[in-house]
Amino acid sequence: PTEARNVTVTGAGGQIGYALLFRIASGQLLGADVPIKLRLLEIPQGLNAAEGAALELHDGAFPLLQSVEVTDDATRAFDGVNVGLLVGSRPRGPGMERADLLEANGRIFGPQGRAINAGAADDVRVLVVGNPANTNALITAAHAPDVPAERFTAMTRLDHNRAVAQLAAHLAVPVTSIAGLTIWGNHSASQYPDVFHATVDGRPVIDLVGESWLAETFIPRVANRGSEIIRVRGASSVGSAASATLDHVFDWVNGTGSGWTSAAVASDGSYGVPAGLVSSFPVRSVGGAWRIVEGLEMGAFSRARVDASVAELVEEREAVRALGLIPD
Ligand code: NAI
Repeated sequence: PTEARNVTVTGAGGQIGYALLFRIASGQLLGADVPIKLRLLEIPQGLNAAEGAALELHDGAFPLLQSVEVTDDATRAFDGVNVGLLVGSRPRGPGMERADLLEANGRIFGPQGRAINAGAADDVRVLVVGNPANTNALITAAHAPDVPAERFTAMTRLDHNRAVAQLAAHLAVPVTSIAGLTIWGNHSASQYPDVFHATVDGRPVIDLVGESWLAETFIPRVANRGSEIIRVRGASSVGSAASATLDHVFDWVNGTGSGWTSAAVASDGSYGVPAGLVSSFPVRSVGGAWRIVEGLEMGAFSRARVDASVAELVEEREAVRALGLIPD
């Protein structure tokens, strides 16, 4: 029988946690044959919600779910962790200054990085969902110097899935017809959804859509979809964010097959993205590790947009450095 994996979910008492936990327990994170031991990390005010979710997980009688432990102690939560889903964060509130936002998150992700460094399993994989996700992943990795930087990723899969769905709808084809799409940069409104290498049933997408549709409709639609969901639903994206979380980890562990997807990973300097920044790239998962898809040509339209989003990541990195949240 397959050995059980320790999966830690932070912010487990929150909205995404609630949408995520039952699907993890059903086998959608790692595969239908992998037993799971769940650890739910919350802050004291979130413990009741997490405890309630744990009771419901119990009631699900999930064959793969071996145990559920709820804690507010990061050291305990990350001891032996194989997969860490860092969902709990301090999102930007109304009128909140960027420095305050980054500082509040530094206080969350610094200690969590230290706990991962101290106790995680050798094969640990970390996905940061909580915003600002890319920079939170950077902070976490900076506090876990013994864990390879490539194990710390941030989620742009929701943006990727949104882009695939928008393109498929525009071209009136199934989502399975679309390949070769990329989200570049930051998981923020500056992100760049790139269709220049995308195909629809093998045909270049760029032969079927114009640059004005890209610039005026597609790119802003994808980049601002989160706000659209809030406006329509009256609450932020939760179900689709949970889905994308499962997609990211499932592909990371089980491979992407022939195509590629998007994930924010530590840059090795590819495509002019400064090394070490956690930026979204086209990626394949090979042998359980993300590999940046190299050698794609980038025209001026794409270059300007990638550069703008990467510049935002550089600014965020400088700001957290200035606050002492990562070493120089
Ligand atoms: P939520 O507010 O419902 O839940 C967050 C939970 O995290 C709360 O229960 C809170 O008590 C907990 N928490 C806060 N600090 C913590 C800490 N230090 N340790 C453990 N738990 C902690 O929020 P929701 O809707 O679940 O969203 C979570 C995050 O995901 C937000 O930052 C949101 O902006 C982000 N997000 C990211 C997306 C992406 O594509 N990368 C998509 C959608 C949301």
